[in-house]
Amino acid sequence: MGKSISIDRVGKTYGTLEALSPTSFDIAEGEFVSIVGPSGCGKSTLLRLIAGLDLASRGTVAIAGRTVDKPETDVGIVFQRPVLLDWRSVIDNVMIQAEARRLPREAYLQRSRELLKAAGLDGFETAYPHQLSGGMSQRVSVCRALVHDPSLLLMDEPFGALDALTRDQMMIDLQKLWLRSRPTVLFVTHSVQEAVFLSDRIIVMAPRPGRVDATLTVDLPRPRRLAMRGAPAFNRLVDDILARFQRMGVLSDDADQTEEAERAPVQ
Ligand SMILES: Nc1ncnc2c1ncn2[C@@H]1O[C@H](COP(=O)(O)OP(=O)(O)OP(=O)(O)O)[C@@H](O)[C@H]1O
Ligand SMILES: [Mg+2]
Repeated sequence: MGKSISIDRVGKTYGTLEALSPTSFDIAEGEFVSIVGPSGCGKSTLLRLIAGLDLASRGTVAIAGRTVDKPETDVGIVFQRPVLLDWRSVIDNVMIQAEARRLPREAYLQRSRELLKAAGLDGFETAYPHQLSGGMSQRVSVCRALVHDPSLLLMDEPFGALDALTRDQMMIDLQKLWLRSRPTVLFVTHSVQEAVFLSDRIIVMAPRPGRVDATLTVDLPRPRRLAMRGAPAFNRLVDDILARFQRMGVLSDDADQTEEAERAPVQ
């Protein structure tokens, strides 16, 4: 079962730029929470603060009740841009996590192979990063985040570079894995549908300086199936979130944006 996360008035400034306004929320043990929000609102910043890779300018982050003040170890991170070591093969990139934690090599090689196979990468174990497509690299970094069974998973748009079909498959696989071992997951995505499909709760963030606009509970039965994306309850949630983005001015649904329409007073 995953660890709880507590974000208490956490803010981040870079010089004079406020990347994240003081933000508070809690995530329960084993909960799956997504963050959606416009580009630049501080989602990646927030994930880095939780992982202990960067320090907050104010407020406190706690994992399982303990204040984060250095990089966490019991965590799996999928960065927004897959960071693979060029000089290591695919399987050796996945094995980094096991090596860093001095886990038994044979058992974890086996597990790495299984994960790579599940991610559609069998046959590429000994390939090098430059021989992979962008989507394949991203899938390797997902495997690397999972190999040591962390009780906390921080995923920053992990499926962003994938084609629609692979993305659906990865979503199903992630749900399966989560249902099995119940890690706590904080999942950043630009896809509202993906957030609704996967989450117990969704945090909607407002534009920079980022802050929480709303937190929505996704009360749909699990396991969720792809066909549920056509269900009215599913789409009500998607529409609710999109409407929030429209109200914030980060999404416009105006199909005929003539100059005149732009000049017309808003009713
Ligand atoms: N190391 C840094 N130094 C200076 N500014 C930074 C740094 N990291 C992020 N920022 C700034 O903080 C703000 C938030 O960045 P962040 O990467 O967290 O956004 P994001 O919500 O993840 O955006 P996207 O959806 O595009 O990935 C941006 O204005 C960015 O320019
Ligand atoms: Mg980001």
